[in-house]
Amino acid sequence: MLGLATINDSVLDLIGNTPMVDVSNLSPHRDVRILAKLESQNPFGSVKDRIAKNMIEDAEKSGRLHPGQTILEPSSGNTGIALAAIARLKGYPIKILLPSNVSIERRQMLEVFGAEIILTPGEEGSNGAVRRAHELAAEHPEWCFIYQYGNDANPRAHYEGTGPEIWRDCPDITHFVAGLGTSGTLMGTGRFLKERNPDIKIVAIEPPQGERVEGLRSLADGYIPPVFDEWNGAELLDRKRVVRPRESIEWTRRLVAECGVFAGLSAGAALAGAVKVATELAAAGESGTIVFIVSDGGWKYLSTGAYTDDLDAAAASAEQVIYF
Ligand SMILES: Cc1ncc(COP(=O)(O)O)c(C=O)c1O
Repeated sequence: MLGLATINDSVLDLIGNTPMVDVSNLSPHRDVRILAKLESQNPFGSVKDRIAKNMIEDAEKSGRLHPGQTILEPSSGNTGIALAAIARLKGYPIKILLPSNVSIERRQMLEVFGAEIILTPGEEGSNGAVRRAHELAAEHPEWCFIYQYGNDANPRAHYEGTGPEIWRDCPDITHFVAGLGTSGTLMGTGRFLKERNPDIKIVAIEPPQGERVEGLRSLADGYIPPVFDEWNGAELLDRKRVVRPRESIEWTRRLVAECGVFAGLSAGAALAGAVKVATELAAAGESGTIVFIVSDGGWKYLSTGAYTDDLDAAAASAEQVIYF
């Protein structure tokens, strides 16, 4: 029998309303449920579709972005891809600053969506791309610098989308777990959930200082995104769990092998953190429902060998490639 189908006017209407799937078979205790929210199901492949759409539409509404104007953004990953896709649809030229050592699939995706790529030195990492973007923005005030780290429309996309969706689908949530990059996901979703139920715990996943898990950053490395301070991150976050690159790969592999969810490495990091929380709850004799974010799918990481190489080799190469 045919189900109800919807015809959408634009691919942009497909952003958000992502599904959740129960992966409690990975939980250390049957009284603690673990649910994955699949942001990988967004049309351009990641959680960043939400913020890219919101930041562009916000700039249009405020008059900061007008027809034909060039968009500028430093991004080695998902934000650049989503911005490039939406910019092309809406007819804006776009320049993305990219560290030279990102995985090849990221460059290819930006090319697919017609972005102009400006390479910055690989050894300077994502901070180097951000610095160069600030310089270029100062030299070219006629361009629209989106700047996801300091753009309020980033956390707002989660406050208005991700948070309400989780609350609608899972009102018995006890813990929300997500990786921290710009902090937009944790700030927007976390604030919404806390307003509904202040007992919900908000847990940030960070790599150890100086180590790299794609998409994530350690606040201890010294850069605090303005979004984090403006949304009162220090108060909003209940806990931080540190996850090493090797653990991220291990849990990314278990997620696909035991649940069929083919995810990027920050999802493995978030899942590793969710399992740590579940273990602590079980040890205290408590039950719970933990929701974690699958920020993107695994496609863009295939060339790194993260899924198939020997684990030690994969962990070593994950630390060499810049994803953020
Ligand atoms: C794959 C991936 N995971 C997680 C994050 C972190 O999300 P947020 O920037 O909302 O903190 C990012 C952000 O860049 C990402 O690309």
